[in-house]
Amino acid sequence: MPCLEEIRRGLEAAGQTHVLRFWSELAEGERETFLQDLALLDLKALRKHCEAARTAAAAASDPHQDRDQDMEPIPPQSIGSVRKSDSSALSEWEDKGLLQISQSRVGALLLAGGQGSRLGVSYPKGMYDVGLPSGKTLYQIQAERIRKIQELSERRHGAKCTVPWYIMTSEFTLTPTKKFFDENDYFGLDPANVVLFEQRMIPAVSLEGKIILQDRGKLAMAPDGNGGLYQALMDNHVLEDMEKRGVEYLHVYCVDNILIKMADPVFVGFCVSKGADCGAKVVRKAHASEPVGVVCRVRGVSQVVEYSEISEETTELKGPDGELLYSAGNICNHFFTRTFLQDVAENYKDQLQQHVAMKKVPFVDSSGHHVKPSKPNGIKMEKFVFDVFPFSRNFVAFEVEREDEFSPLKNAEGADSPTTARNSLLAQHHRWLLAAGATLTHGDGNSVPAGDSPPPPPLPQWEVSPLVSYFGEGLEDLLQGKTLPTPFVLDPVRANELIGGR
Ligand code: UD1
Repeated sequence: MPCLEEIRRGLEAAGQTHVLRFWSELAEGERETFLQDLALLDLKALRKHCEAARTAAAAASDPHQDRDQDMEPIPPQSIGSVRKSDSSALSEWEDKGLLQISQSRVGALLLAGGQGSRLGVSYPKGMYDVGLPSGKTLYQIQAERIRKIQELSERRHGAKCTVPWYIMTSEFTLTPTKKFFDENDYFGLDPANVVLFEQRMIPAVSLEGKIILQDRGKLAMAPDGNGGLYQALMDNHVLEDMEKRGVEYLHVYCVDNILIKMADPVFVGFCVSKGADCGAKVVRKAHASEPVGVVCRVRGVSQVVEYSEISEETTELKGPDGELLYSAGNICNHFFTRTFLQDVAENYKDQLQQHVAMKKVPFVDSSGHHVKPSKPNGIKMEKFVFDVFPFSRNFVAFEVEREDEFSPLKNAEGADSPTTARNSLLAQHHRWLLAAGATLTHGDGNSVPAGDSPPPPPLPQWEVSPLVSYFGEGLEDLLQGKTLPTPFVLDPVRANELIGGR
């Protein structure tokens, strides 16, 4: 570890010696911890980082104008679509995906380093329980979907397989996530196949380009964005791990989508059959101002323009059919080949764009008093996971149905909240059970009319465990002609009872 003098010299060169302003007042233990934190800084890159943050923040007053003019929608021939494909194409992709999974060539990678500040919880978002009848958390649902997709692939192709689960965490989420998985026996997965790794943190910078002190002996640090993935893959030898296991394809996704199809065989099969090295699932945007990025082309190159970086005017543009021109909403579900990731990590990761987020960052002022700012005072620089799309040689987009695949948990209430996430999952299971031929009855014994759509919320409580069904398959055999009262959780024990009761 470098000594204080070395660090001081590095800070001087970067114009950041103010961070040591309280050094003489710190206790011995505080100094030690602070020194350890400072030693983790990339001192050589610090001046550039702080100057880039200051310049980018100044330029952020008019972020979209240039790029908006260069945007065009993804041409229809570059987008596959569940809605527009017939069932034979869908089954072909599914089968192809299941085959790859059965050969242990597919992994899932969860981006879980975010701080979940909009949801306002102090623990990782994956540990959140949205209030399902089973009480399952997002992590448990995801783990069980991995178990199920392994089982389905094994059954279809007769080969024992593993879908390794890589989980990118940050300083905020690593320890609680690890503890949660340990305490819950990895939800039935083999811990050897759950690989937790950590992304880097970078300092938040003031509008004047100075690192912000969160406390007298602590820098205000934040994860480097979900595009920190590519550096983290290298730092933690994840690509080597993939290679050792024979994993060729990765399904990368964000933690908060309760409907996530882990290692989705249809998406994987579609991308593989198109020979893609990089792919993105999209849904049609619900409305112009929905906070999702749009998959489009900028100067002829496929990429995502984030919702925070597109003008309102552009989001509202309509195409000749009267639909939103930029309607391909990014749902943070990406497909990458291992060789593409290797190429990016080795050759392109340092070229990734830096995005600027202006935040309210609590700090200590020059007299050591804690201040909670009422307006943004700090710049956080972030990389975005999708900014590697322009380096792809064959990029494809795949449009899926929102009601089956996308319901994110972002906010404590209102849109994209625990209530909407819970309702989306229950509505999906409601559809599955009716399609399987079950009769659903309320507590008062009245049965639910067998229509296509579930009743308006609050929804009755019928839930299907991912260990019983991954995308609604296999339920007809179990449930045809059965009457199911609410609340009802179809878990493996209930499923066995139903089989036994035939
Ligand atoms: C993200 C997408 C957006 C998409 C939306 C759909 C990005 C940059 N933006 O937006 O285009 O329409 O999801 O729901 O992908 N994370 C890390 N490390 C970090 C920061 C975030 O791992 O440093 C993880 C989070 O834990 C989360 C995911 O990245 O799982 C997405 O982050 P979040 O901040 O929630 O992105 P959104 O703004 O919702």
